[in-house]
Amino acid sequence: MTDPLLQLDYKPKLPPKINYGIGLVGTGGIVQYATMPSYRKHRLDVVAAFDLQRPTAEIVAEEFEIPHVYDSLEQLLDDAAVEIVEIAVPPQHQLGIVRTCLEAGKHLLCQKPLALDLGESAEIVKLGEASGLKVAVNQQLRWGQGLRGAKDLIRKGWIGQVADASIQVSVNTPWNMWEWLVNAPRLEIQFHSIHYIDAMRSLFGDPIWITSRHARNPLQGDIIGETKTITIMDYENDLQVLIADNHFNHSDEYFATFRFIGTKGHISGTLGAMYNYPHGQEDSLYWSGRPHYPHQKFEAKLEGKWIPDAFIGPIASLMTAIQEDGMPETNVRDNLGTLRVVEAAYMSAEQNRSIRFDEVPAIPISEQ
Ligand SMILES: NC(=O)c1ccc[n+]([C@@H]2O[C@H](COP(=O)([O-])OP(=O)(O)OC[C@H]3O[C@@H](n4cnc5c(N)ncnc54)[C@H](O)[C@@H]3O)[C@@H](O)[C@H]2O)c1
Repeated sequence: MTDPLLQLDYKPKLPPKINYGIGLVGTGGIVQYATMPSYRKHRLDVVAAFDLQRPTAEIVAEEFEIPHVYDSLEQLLDDAAVEIVEIAVPPQHQLGIVRTCLEAGKHLLCQKPLALDLGESAEIVKLGEASGLKVAVNQQLRWGQGLRGAKDLIRKGWIGQVADASIQVSVNTPWNMWEWLVNAPRLEIQFHSIHYIDAMRSLFGDPIWITSRHARNPLQGDIIGETKTITIMDYENDLQVLIADNHFNHSDEYFATFRFIGTKGHISGTLGAMYNYPHGQEDSLYWSGRPHYPHQKFEAKLEGKWIPDAFIGPIASLMTAIQEDGMPETNVRDNLGTLRVVEAAYMSAEQNRSIRFDEVPAIPISEQ
């Protein structure tokens, strides 16, 4: 029998009941190439769709056999078959939709980032907690196969105490997929590195210090926000996390790697999705560790890709929370931790200094 230490536990777990009626608000790119392919594969029950651009919703409904397309949010919420609303609109529109959906008594899966600023994000947390409904965030890289596999290896003690962790990405990102991002003053950290920050928080919790440097790239033309960033998150016990991204690497030497160095071993691998976004490839994962098999190196054969397969993670976790009356892994309060790191990264870059995590204004969320 294979040693359990060598069996990686990295796949999202669906709860026993999965036939909740899901209503989509916003049916643009991410729903088309990630959410719906993933949900169809797992036979989730998407019952309704609404998009300000009705033809977009109609195309998605036809391709994925969604029975109802509605003309307004209110109509979608009136449909009793809709139990969970999944929002996938640009973040500046999310708060108003959240408020209306919660008033209608629907559980929610929100998109990342929750909002463009911390105040609105905190408002979503407050509304979610006051509602008694389950509200999660689609921060799905936590379920990326390589990083989830690494989490399992760290948990099983393969590499001892983690001392250094890094995600380094230098790729050619197709920014034309998101026209609404061209004028975003906050770009790379707010919309992309937020995934890496969240994934690192899912492994190590909140950092103590955040240091971040941001730059543009000579090739980025009209795009006004930062597209090259380096962020360091310092933890207790001298753990340092490095997240470094460059989205304008137009050479053929591109890479998207992660690495964890522990006191007793190492884990490394690649984020396959970033090699040809959004089509990508499978992640790779390698490791070696003295505690279990001191003289061997291992390679995992991982099934699935970040896009679309990791997208089942947040919705599965939300459904589990509904059934067990628990908290989704990416619940909104937890997500606020990720957003505070994001905010600290911008403060750091703007003020040319390191920022303590608790320097980011304490947020007046629900008095419990
Ligand atoms: N989780 C991820 O990995 C990931 C990846 C890409 C994008 N996103 C997020 O998903 C969201 C959507 O991104 P996208 O790439 O699909 O954008 P998109 O522009 O392709 O699609 C957005 C859709 O929302 C619709 N819309 C806008 N406002 C609306 C409203 N008030 N009510 C109903 N529909 C509305 C638009 O008509 C459009 O069809 C953004 O918040 C983005 O940050 C997340």
